[in-house]
Amino acid sequence: MSGFFITFEGGEGAGKSTQMAMLAGSLKASNHDVAVTREPGGSPGAEAVRHVILSGLAEPYGPVMEAVLFATSRNDHVEQVIRPAVAAGKIVISDRFADSSRVYQGMSGALDYDFVEQLQQLAINRMTPDLTIIMDIDPKIGLERAAIRRAGPADRFEKETVAMHQKRREGFLTIAKREPNRCVVIDATRDQAKIASDILALVNLRLANAKGRSS
Ligand code: TYD
Repeated sequence: MSGFFITFEGGEGAGKSTQMAMLAGSLKASNHDVAVTREPGGSPGAEAVRHVILSGLAEPYGPVMEAVLFATSRNDHVEQVIRPAVAAGKIVISDRFADSSRVYQGMSGALDYDFVEQLQQLAINRMTPDLTIIMDIDPKIGLERAAIRRAGPADRFEKETVAMHQKRREGFLTIAKREPNRCVVIDATRDQAKIASDILALVNLRLANAKGRSS
């Protein structure tokens, strides 16, 4: 019995959390065993590191330190939570995963892409998502939405310029082009209910295909 691993990726204000919650609700309603998780964090060890990264505490120690902290927390999340849940037959839905490091630390960050990629291979240890949903939005719209939604101050990564957010958007789209079987790009500016029904249809199709392959 093997489950299914879905990740949601994208920039700020793309509506990832809303869509994840709607997808999880619909899957549970049709009797699937669903586990929702997030990064950075998702396991006790990784949650302990989350604040260190997002508050900017690690920023003075440089981009390698930050990237390794993301990777070490990701590895803990994979081994303690994601892999056991998928092995137990659950549908695991994670808010961000390795593509966020590829984009934020690699493609739009200060580090060499190959270095970041090697870190991801170590961190995920072959736990590649079965499906990655990339919520795509013009950063100008996304940042406005994120600012309206946010109660406190912007985090370490939200504070960057629009040009940086634009680079991140392009990074996710590049990954989607490179891995068209794993990644599906969703236009996040459309009506939320319409987006949710498209995502549910996509996931149901992939689940049926995966079941077909394993039986
Ligand atoms: P979070 O508060 O979880 O927000 P979001 O709603 O944007 O997912 O913040 C996570 C921030 O950390 C986000 O700006 C993206 C960044 N990040 C990275 O830079 N690298 C990573 O590997 C991950 C998982 C997140």
